[in-house]
Amino acid sequence: VNHLLGIKYLNNDDIKLIFETADHFKEVINRPIKKVPSLRDITIANLFFENSTRTKLSFELAEKRLSADVINFSASQSSVKKGETLIDTVNNILSMKVDMVVMRHPNPGASVFLSNHVNASIINAGDGAHEHPTQALLDSYSIRERLGSVRGKKVVIVGDILHSRVALSNIFALKTQGAQVMVCGPKTLIPKYIDKLGVTVETNLKKALNWCDVANMLRVQNERMSVSYFPSAREYTQQYGVNMKLLKSLDKEITIMHPGPINRGVEITSEVADSDQAIILDQVQNGVAIRMAVIYLLASKIKQ
Ligand code: CP
Repeated sequence: VNHLLGIKYLNNDDIKLIFETADHFKEVINRPIKKVPSLRDITIANLFFENSTRTKLSFELAEKRLSADVINFSASQSSVKKGETLIDTVNNILSMKVDMVVMRHPNPGASVFLSNHVNASIINAGDGAHEHPTQALLDSYSIRERLGSVRGKKVVIVGDILHSRVALSNIFALKTQGAQVMVCGPKTLIPKYIDKLGVTVETNLKKALNWCDVANMLRVQNERMSVSYFPSAREYTQQYGVNMKLLKSLDKEITIMHPGPINRGVEITSEVADSDQAIILDQVQNGVAIRMAVIYLLASKIKQ
């Protein structure tokens, strides 16, 4: 398959290969000259129909570190605003001899849809509340880096599971690699289908944190809610926010993750986010090597 549409299409060997390739690129980007000439013959379009800081810049940097030609497209400044469809937009871009498309889109399934209608390799950079595969890969890679492996680790994903593509992709990635996964949050923010994913559910944050090795703290995605799913931000923080007092009261020292952007003082305090227990900026740093690996592996299939 010449796409990365979701973690649900990957097996453990695929993830292992991506991590081993990322190990190599991580070493490359720590050299004084951070570039390799591998993809001088590849052109990549980054299509962002939804806001992004980390994913957008990280993909662009990964592509440039691989020496690919890169074009960036932001829907808000494009002819999409004049009514042009997604397929027409992408086919026009592809006619300029583009090989690969990285796309973020607010609609779940947008990347799968695109992959069925255009002739290019597609990487899903987040589609609505569906999947965010490269985020889950960099998250697992960061757990492997901090704790030695993912297999056998206990990971709790905390917060707005219902609206989170990060949660779904992480559940697929962690389960595939043999981790134990729990979700924790208010019942209104946990989807009904969660039982089918082989994860446990806990509504008490302290119990969840005492169980886990790693807690991945999610932002409440107000932009995906037409109504409020929780009484107020203050009540959410009281029940599901992590602060230093709570961390110190646990039976063991756990690792704290967050995909960003952080709402400091809501799901996590600054003291926790900036502490040695948090690997939030390691996650961002690893995102470049992971995305280099994904692009490199897909490009080698295009060249075959
Ligand atoms: N983690 C993440 O996807 O962040 P951005 O929305 O800034 O890309």
